[in-house]
Formats: sequence, C-alpha cells, structure tokens
Amino acid sequence: MAKKDMKKANWSGRFNEPVTELVKRFTASIVFDHKLGLHDIEGSLAHAEMLAAQKIITQKDLKAIQSGLQSIQKEILAGSFKWSIDLEDVHLNIEKRLTDKIGEAGKKLHTGRSRNDQVATDLRLWLRATIDETIQKIKTLQLSVVQLADKHQKTVMPGFTHLQIAQPVTFGHHLMAYYEMLQRDLTRFEDARKRMNQLPLGSAALAGTSYPIDRNKVAKKLKFDGLCENSIDAVSDRDFAIEFTFVASLLMTHLSRFSEELIMWSSPMFGFVEIADRFCTGSSIMPQKKNPDVPELVRGKTGRVTGHLMSLLMLMKAQPLAYNKDNQEDKEPLFDTANTILDVLTIYADMLKSISVNEKNMKEAALKGYATATDLADYLVIKGVAFRDAHEVVAKAVNAAIKKKCDLSELKIDELKKFSKVISSDVYSYLTLEGSIKSRNHIGGTSFEQVKKSIEKAKKRLKQ
Ligand code: ARG
Repeated sequence: MAKKDMKKANWSGRFNEPVTELVKRFTASIVFDHKLGLHDIEGSLAHAEMLAAQKIITQKDLKAIQSGLQSIQKEILAGSFKWSIDLEDVHLNIEKRLTDKIGEAGKKLHTGRSRNDQVATDLRLWLRATIDETIQKIKTLQLSVVQLADKHQKTVMPGFTHLQIAQPVTFGHHLMAYYEMLQRDLTRFEDARKRMNQLPLGSAALAGTSYPIDRNKVAKKLKFDGLCENSIDAVSDRDFAIEFTFVASLLMTHLSRFSEELIMWSSPMFGFVEIADRFCTGSSIMPQKKNPDVPELVRGKTGRVTGHLMSLLMLMKAQPLAYNKDNQEDKEPLFDTANTILDVLTIYADMLKSISVNEKNMKEAALKGYATATDLADYLVIKGVAFRDAHEVVAKAVNAAIKKKCDLSELKIDELKKFSKVISSDVYSYLTLEGSIKSRNHIGGTSFEQVKKSIEKAKKRLKQ
C-alpha cells in the first residue's frame, strides 16, 4: 500500500507503511478497553478544565471540548458509539471522535498528557468504582450469612477436623466463620482502594511535562486522595491491579471452601442442607439427580481468578521502567476478575437465602460421631484425672458405645463407672450435645450465648 493510501493513525507521521491487518488486530485493545470509555471522558474533562484554568488552552477551547465530550458520553451510554479497530484503543477512538465533532480544539486536549498516564488514570477510576461495588456486594452477602446463622443459632451439627466428626458446634457458629472471612476480605478491598486512589495524570509519557500543569486540581476534581509522586512509577505501576486480583482470589478461595461444604452437605450422604432448585440443574441421563451447579462453578471459577492473579504477576516481572506495551495485557484479566466476583457475590447472596437445613440429620450425625468424647475427658480432668489418662479412659468408653451401637450419653452410669471410679451421675450434663456446646462459653466459642452475641455484633456492624 502506498503511503498516501494509509488510513492514518495519529502517531503514524514517521511511518512509511501501515501495519498489516494481523498486527493491527494484535496490537489493538479496543475490543476490551472500550469498557473504560466513560472513565476516559471523566479524566479528559478534568484534564481540560485544568489546562484552561492554567491558561494552557483557552476558555473557548474548553467549552468546545466539554460539549464534544458530553455528546460522546451520551453516544457511549446509548450504545451508539462506533468503536473502530483502526483507531487501536479507547483513548484514540474518543479523541478522533472529538476532533471530528469540534475540529481544532479537539486536537488540543492531549496537551501535556500521554496515553501512558491517561490509561493508568482511567484504570484506577474504573477500579475504584469496581471496588466500591464489590464492597457493597460483600456486605449484602454477609447479611445473607448472618440471617441464616441467626435462624440456626441453636441448630446443632458436628464440627469437623480432618473431615472426621470432632466436636458439636452450632450451625450458626459454623456459618459465622464465613462472615469473619468476608469481613477480612472487605477490609482488604478497602485497604487496596486507599493505596490505589492516587492520581497518575500529569506524569505524561514518563518524565512529566513542561507545561505549567496543576495536578492537585485534577486530583481533587477526580476525587483522588493524592498524587502519584514519581512520574516513572506512575505510568508503569500496576500494583493496584495485582492487589485487587489478589484480594479477589482470596475472596474466591473463601467462597470456594464454602462451596465445597455446600456441595458435600447437599449430597444425600450428608443430607444437611438443600439448595433450592433454581440454583441447581438435573442430569440428562440420571433422573434422580439434582446437581449443585452454582457452588461447583464458584469453586471452579476460583481457579480462573487465581489464574488471572498469576497472569498479572508474570506480566510485570521483567518489565523495565517505564511504560511498555505489555501493560495493555493487564485489562482482560482485571475485567474478567471483576465480572466474575461481582456475579459470584450476587448469586451467592441469593442462593444462601434459598437454603433449607435438615436439623435432624445434622444432629444425628453429631450423635453418631461421639462428638462429646472430649467433654468426657474434660470432665475426668475436672475430677482430678490427668488429661492423658482421661484420654485413654474415654477411648475405652467410646469403644464400648460403638459395640453397643449407642451414644456415650446412653451408657448407664454403672457401665461408665467401670471405666473410671470418679465418674458419677453429674457426667450426663457433659455428655449431651447441648451440654458440650453450652460449656464453650467464651469469646469465639460455640456456646449458644456466644453465637447469639457474635450475630448481634455482626448485625450492628452491617447496619453502619
Ligand atoms: N492501549 C494502551 C494500553 O492499554 C494505552 C497506552 C498506550 N501507550 C503507548 N505508548 N502505546 O496500555
């Protein structure tokens, strides 16, 4: 193709031939970064206002830029903006449209700015809004967890270690463990937001700009808490993307554990819970099946999000300062992470509301598992037996109960006395599931009283 026939990219002045179709497609980001369109306009409006206030452009130019950008904003919102791959990315698409609309003034918008600080700013604006949405959705999910826990403050279930029945707990207590995980996730998102909320714009390509810009003015307008203080770092840093994706991975990891439990608990072998039909699917061949697809997919998508974290870390590991085109690869993992967690949080909050609990099965499982064996040992210790000896005595008592196919609390007092002479009839208040639960009455323990308190505390926090 002769140079005169080239469809001109705005950077093509020094080039003698156009890129091939494949290179054009390979280097373009418009298919995914158009998502940043509205944030790009927000950043450009703040930049243009500052340029005019600093007399770098005229008020007349500013007015034209403002009205042009506002009409582009409308086009984007209406879905009528035509994104073109010939214009490579979101920034060049919008700038070209602006110039087509308002002429000369449009060409002045890029004064004192580079796509390098522009894209870093757009991404931070997008991520800030995404974090805010994520935090709200975590709170909604926490509310679902707390409401379910509230209903099951007194529902007894076996607590597990090594997936073996360990000690009785309440279902409310077990659920509140997830509330705590989500609370840590929430504060991690808040922390990430603080570190991220610094303005890169003004760093230009990498070294800053020779125009008398006012970065603080732009920061204030765009609600950043401060400025990125080194221009080279500002255009090359993607820590905020990595941090967000890490926090998202940990959130997914927590929900993956929860999902694993829901999947097991809803299998007939456990029969602890039932997830409503609208969150499950059937099998095309086995008519009896009801598959917990939603928790399974949440568990599956945890791999996907953690994969994105690895992508971003690898993306950055060997980049010399400052900006490199590699950074364009940050967007798809980041966007997909956001889409995934926002969907997961929404669907999970709904799904938890749909869960019905089989209290009878939960209780029976705890009884079958000799979950109060530790309580018997603790009882013997109170009566003066050394813990190691008590452990031995209880092991024998459990054996006897297994042989008789009954619970420890169903052994007659005479039988129990055979294992240790310190045992008397007050032992039964220790051997029941309820007795065991009630005795763990300290902050963090599973007693009914403590679980109630922790639920009240969580409810209060969620109302703030
Ligand atoms: N589309 C680019 C990206 O996402 C924008 C920055 C381009 N800068 C450059 N010097 N080519 O990273």
